[in-house]
Amino acid sequence: MKKYNIKAVFFSPTGNTEKIVTKIAEEIAASFDDEIETINFTLPEARRTRWVFDVNTIVVFGLPVYAGRIPNKTLPAVKENFAGNGAFAIPVVTFGNRSYDDALSELRDLLEANDFRTIAGAAVVGRHPFSDVLASGRPDADDIDRLKGFSQDICYKLGKYNMHRQIEVKGVSPAKEYYCPKGVNGEATNFLKAKPKTNKVKCTKCKICARVCPMGSIDSTDVSLVSGVCIKCHACVLSCPVNAKYFDDPAFLSHVAMLDSEYVRRVESDFFV
Ligand SMILES: Cc1cc2nc3c(=O)[nH]c(=O)nc-3n(C[C@H](O)[C@H](O)[C@H](O)COP(=O)(O)O)c2cc1C
Repeated sequence: MKKYNIKAVFFSPTGNTEKIVTKIAEEIAASFDDEIETINFTLPEARRTRWVFDVNTIVVFGLPVYAGRIPNKTLPAVKENFAGNGAFAIPVVTFGNRSYDDALSELRDLLEANDFRTIAGAAVVGRHPFSDVLASGRPDADDIDRLKGFSQDICYKLGKYNMHRQIEVKGVSPAKEYYCPKGVNGEATNFLKAKPKTNKVKCTKCKICARVCPMGSIDSTDVSLVSGVCIKCHACVLSCPVNAKYFDDPAFLSHVAMLDSEYVRRVESDFFV
C-alpha cells in the first residue's frame, strides 16, 4: 500500500543540490517501495507555479547556500509557492566548504512557517562553482553513503513519529545577516554588480547559457548581453561547452583567491534527525 508521496524539490543552478536532494528522496522512496516526483524550481518559468501538499507527503526541500543564507532571490518562491498543509519536510542546504552559517535554520523556519512539519535536516558539502579546488569532487562516494544512512534514520524516525517538534539544527533563528565576502587582504569586498563576460571568439551562440540562467537575465539574441540581475550562480560558466563565459571582476577574483587559500581543507556534512 502506498504510504507517502515523496517529492524532491530544489533550486539548483549547478546541480549539487539536485543530486543530493534526489538521492535522499530516492532512498526514502525505496524503503516504501515507491518512486519520487521532482519539482525543480531553478528556472523562472517553474517559479510561476504554486504547489499544495498534504499530510501524506514527504518533501525533501533543497537550496544552495549563498553568503551563509539561502539565496535571497529564491525567497519569494520559497515563501509563496509551497504550501505544506501538514506535509513532512526535510530541509537540505548544500554548501561549498566555507560554511552554511544560518542557511539551514533559515530554511527550516521558512518551511515551518508554510505549514510543513520538519522532521530532519541536512547541510551537505558540494563542489563550489567559483573554484576548481573548493570541495572538488563532492559529493563523493563517502558523502553518498552518508546520505543513505541519513535517509534510513529518517524512515526509522517516521515509524516512531507521534508529536511534532520542529527539527533542531545548527544555526541561529532568526537567521543573522548575510556573510560579507572578503578579499585576499582580509578586507570586505563587494562584487554585487559583477556579471559574466563572453569570449566572443570562443562563443558558438548555442544559447545554452541563456537557457540555464535561473534569473532569465542572459539575452538569447545576443548572449554577451546580461540585461537582468546576476546572482553569480555560475550556471552559465559551468554549462558552456566551449568555456566562453567567465568573470573578470577584480573584487570577485580576489574573493575567490581568498576562498582558495583559506577553505581548501576537507569539511564534512552535518545531519540532524
Ligand atoms: C553566489 C554563491 C555564494 C555562495 N556562498 C557560499 C557560502 O556562503 N558558503 C559556502 O560554504 N558555500 C557557498 N557557495 C557554494 C554553494 O553553496 C555550493 O557549491 C552549492 O552546493 C551549489 O549548489 P548548486 O550546485 O545546486 O547550484 C556559494 C556559491 C555561490 C554561487
